[in-house]
Amino acid sequence: MSNAPAEEIPAEEIDLTDANHIIDKYLTLPGNLMPVLQGIQDSYGFVPKPTIELVAERLNVYPSQIYGVLTFYSQFHMKPRGRYIIRVCVGTACHVQGAERIVDTFFGRLGIGHAETSEDLRYTFEKVACLGACGMAPLAMVNDDTFGKMTVQRVDEIVEIYNQRPMK
Ligand code: FES
Repeated sequence: MSNAPAEEIPAEEIDLTDANHIIDKYLTLPGNLMPVLQGIQDSYGFVPKPTIELVAERLNVYPSQIYGVLTFYSQFHMKPRGRYIIRVCVGTACHVQGAERIVDTFFGRLGIGHAETSEDLRYTFEKVACLGACGMAPLAMVNDDTFGKMTVQRVDEIVEIYNQRPMK
């Protein structure tokens, strides 16, 4: 597994074919910006910069308007995301139960920090606010799987499990 955060993908490596197909599909519909951006994210896993320029040009909107939408709605991401999203809750209940030690252990084990993605695109790590299961504090999630009563030791077990999982 890589120990470095993922770099930005060079613009010339982004194939715009899918983005053009998605834009074609919604081109004449009113209110098409959101479905186009959602379609691009579903297809690429994030909204690459060259697709923003393409959408601006083809839908005749300012890039600043698109960036406004992308930054306002947390479901959109402008950087590649990992196949497995690890979230550790740092809300109050988890904090008092030692969440920061869990976070630091993940950082050390994965070689990435908050809101970073591993170079091999296996993991994205995020510190998050209360996940609504304070009785299980401290809490971690990997995609939809929940891990309550987390310990530093369990970090290794969890990483081991997801290192074996497929990338598709
Ligand atoms: S504070 Fe962590 S689940 Fe509520």
